[in-house]
Amino acid sequence: MHYWCPEGDLNPHDLLGSADFKSAVSADFTIRAFSHHIFQFHPATAIIYLCTSPLLPGSLQATVSFVLTGAGISAESGLATFRGSGGLWNGHRVDQVATPEAWEADPALVWRFYSMRRRDAMAAEPNAAHRALAAIEHSLADNFYLFTQNVDDLHERGGSIRVHHMHGSLFHSRCVACDLPFPDQGFYEDADSLPRCALCGSPVRPHIVWFGEITLDMDEIYRQLDRATVLLVVGTSGSVYPAAGLVNIANRRGIRTLYVGPEEPLNASAFDEIFLGPATEVLPKVV
Ligand code: OAD
Ligand code: ZN
Repeated sequence: MHYWCPEGDLNPHDLLGSADFKSAVSADFTIRAFSHHIFQFHPATAIIYLCTSPLLPGSLQATVSFVLTGAGISAESGLATFRGSGGLWNGHRVDQVATPEAWEADPALVWRFYSMRRRDAMAAEPNAAHRALAAIEHSLADNFYLFTQNVDDLHERGGSIRVHHMHGSLFHSRCVACDLPFPDQGFYEDADSLPRCALCGSPVRPHIVWFGEITLDMDEIYRQLDRATVLLVVGTSGSVYPAAGLVNIANRRGIRTLYVGPEEPLNASAFDEIFLGPATEVLPKVV
């Protein structure tokens, strides 16, 4: 196997010898990025081409960009990811407190979980990755769509305006009967004083899409994806659908697909390019 470095300012063997690099690439890759350098493998010649500085500043500027973010973009703001924390909260599996069944069985437990998440999100600050996406939006305006699986408000506080929350919002609640979301920053940690609707007296629940419920805004998501020339996905494990399937739709439509995060997502093979690294380091270089 040969390595070729077009710019000569970096010794590929330094990178290729590192354990991190070996775990980041595999024999069947076509294009992979590592430490902000991009590698392309040509199976016919078994040559790996190494290009320095693949992330040109402004590389998203002349596009219609569709961005999907997951818990990883808020990780460096101190908010735990789902899979990273072992998927556990106080001994409960997260996917067992974030379900309609959990709500039926124990609304007080569900409200304690979301009250804690409200506290954590309020204490967190947006990071350089949130701000970088706000900067892209600033120049692309209506040619930029940001869909997030996150329920925190760090994109908004980082300066983004066109934010669509596919999985709901931590700072909204809704009455189970009236079904109308309203802003709510309350903490409901006492089983005897859970919130009730001011209009009809029914229980009020978090405005969150739980497992088994229908993702918000899917029509709009498909409409916007149709217009896009680039799909940029940041910090999601690619394990929860329909979000994880957007890259396959993009591929069918010939849209360029990029992933940014410190490790490959489950659906890595579907992406054209993967930039391995923390979002706060990689994203500011893309805008
Ligand atoms: P996960 O916890 O499944 O994945 C987080 C991803 O973030 C992982 O792939 C990490 O490699 C990556 N990551 C960690 N640190 C990062 C960093 N500094 N920069 C960039 N990426 C980083 O979270 P999601 O994929 O968002 O749904 O989870 C999807 C959905 O599952 C959530 O919206 C939630 C959950 O259950 C509901 O609550 C309905
Ligand atoms: Zn009501």
